[in-house]
Amino acid sequence: MSIQLAKAISVKEADSDARSHDGETVQETRGRIHIEGLQKVYGSKKHTFEALRDIDLTIEHNEFLTILGPSGCGKSTLLRIVAGLEEHTEGSLSLDEEEIAGPGPDRGMVFQGYTLFPWLTVRENIEYGPKLQGIPILIRRQISNYWLRIIRLESFANAYPKQLSGGMKQRVAIARALANRPKVMLMDEPFGALDAQTKQEMQAMLLEVWEKEKTTVMFITHDIDEAIFLSQRIVVMGANPGRILKEYKVQLPAERGEDVREHPEFLALKREIAQLLKH
Ligand SMILES: Nc1ncnc2c1ncn2[C@@H]1O[C@H](COP(=O)(O)OP(=O)(O)O)[C@@H](O)[C@H]1O
Ligand SMILES: [Mg+2]
Repeated sequence: MSIQLAKAISVKEADSDARSHDGETVQETRGRIHIEGLQKVYGSKKHTFEALRDIDLTIEHNEFLTILGPSGCGKSTLLRIVAGLEEHTEGSLSLDEEEIAGPGPDRGMVFQGYTLFPWLTVRENIEYGPKLQGIPILIRRQISNYWLRIIRLESFANAYPKQLSGGMKQRVAIARALANRPKVMLMDEPFGALDAQTKQEMQAMLLEVWEKEKTTVMFITHDIDEAIFLSQRIVVMGANPGRILKEYKVQLPAERGEDVREHPEFLALKREIAQLLKH
């Protein structure tokens, strides 16, 4: 791999290159989200609805954190606020000490609905962010080649989204978001529409990518298995009003194969969270 390409695609290398003169501590704050006393009220004066109450949460750099909770507890609202797509009512939130005031390329997003540009090929979709950033065509090509290999869609480089299965589209959506080298990946039930088998394959692929890129991930799901399989930490939310009930550290090895789903720690945690969500 050329040095230029390594810089363009590798969060870690490019980051430490750019920041080495600042000392060691700077890199440790890359992609850290800090949320304090966050409240969200929807509606006007007469008809208000408190969607989020007293949310305090810090997501550390390189952390894979999942927000788990039933439908309607405010998960998407929280993610959209972090994305800068929704305003909050009270409290504060920052990314690497900078207040979040709107959307930005430092946060990549993947949603359940397929958000690829239908008029662009798979390769063009992946190159979209780098192109906006003004990265030259040859480097862009190398970036898309790298990602096509990672998501195993090299033979679909010139296909259009409508020619892909649901799982393939989400693989492209993930690659497209990461090709932009965001500090944080925000993922809102990205595998929610996929069949069980494809979903498991996607989870494994996502972990593989996260291990390589070490970007911070804020992942949303209502699926307990998915939360445990993927995360280092799980924050469980409850509804009415949307709030944090409890958080769990997932004490499973970082390298997780399918067999981890039978691990005693996995099963114990699954029982405990299911119990909490029953109430
Ligand atoms: N734009 C909106 N206006 C009013 N209420 C909303 C709006 N968006 C979401 N809500 C309400 O806020 C609550 C949380 O929604 P949401 O964040 O989508 O939950 P989740 O993603 O956990 O299912 C729901 O009761 C929903 O009806
Ligand atoms: Mg939602």
